[in-house]
Amino acid sequence: MITLGLTLSREYTGEWTWPIIPTVTDSQTLLDSLNWRYATKHFDPHRKIPDSDLHTLLEAMRLAPSSFGLQPWKFIVVTDQDLKTKLMAESWNQAQVRDCSHLIVFAARRTVDVHYVDHFIDSVAQQRNVDRHHLQGYRNVMADFVRKTAHEIGNWAERQCYLPLAILLQTAAQMQIDACPMEGLDPIGYDRLLGLGAEFFTVCACPVGYRSEHDKYAKMAKVRFSTDEVIEFR
Ligand SMILES: Cc1cc2nc3c(=O)[nH]c(=O)nc-3n(C[C@H](O)[C@H](O)[C@H](O)COP(=O)(O)O)c2cc1C
Repeated sequence: MITLGLTLSREYTGEWTWPIIPTVTDSQTLLDSLNWRYATKHFDPHRKIPDSDLHTLLEAMRLAPSSFGLQPWKFIVVTDQDLKTKLMAESWNQAQVRDCSHLIVFAARRTVDVHYVDHFIDSVAQQRNVDRHHLQGYRNVMADFVRKTAHEIGNWAERQCYLPLAILLQTAAQMQIDACPMEGLDPIGYDRLLGLGAEFFTVCACPVGYRSEHDKYAKMAKVRFSTDEVIEFR
């Protein structure tokens, strides 16, 4: 089935413009790309993602939703071969980290407090061109929300990181770029090598690039529980 539609777009000025973006969704193509993707174990170390495609992947991540829109994350893109090799040693020696085109590390904010909420409110006021005064209620709800222990904030921020990760996987699949979501790593080792620690901590990583033709995992059947087992209608 092909669904055609028009989507309103808003430029940086905050003005709504019409009509701008034709949207085309082909359900079969979408599902085919999700079946095409797999957690890539062997990348072709010689193939690099072009800058324009990398830009699309990073923009997709940056556009990910987050609780209250607070974006408590940072994405670190590693291309330095020496650093990738060192990070592989902190990743259960998984070769994807060394052989990928780009290694994207998802780090969460350690501290999300009232000051950070105010920093976010400043950006809402500026990007939507509204008086900060009108955002006071929104600001207070968030200021209340972030009054938690450091442990609770860390857990919350960590969970947020899986949204840009998921969007990266989806976007990459649609662009026929390979990826491997990874939690098999030592976050403390990553923090040390990447110089994180005070402000951010490593949550997970995702090597991206192009599969090696020798990766036998590419041809394996997908293993998923049946629709009946995982989806319930009420
Ligand atoms: C959060 C997360 C962490 C993962 N960590 C690793 C990892 O460290 N190494 C790896 O090879 N695959 C890792 N995987 C990939 C899963 O094993 C894989 O997605 C799952 O077996 C389903 O297979 P598919 O993605 O190929 O369809 C991870 C997946 C997720 C979502």
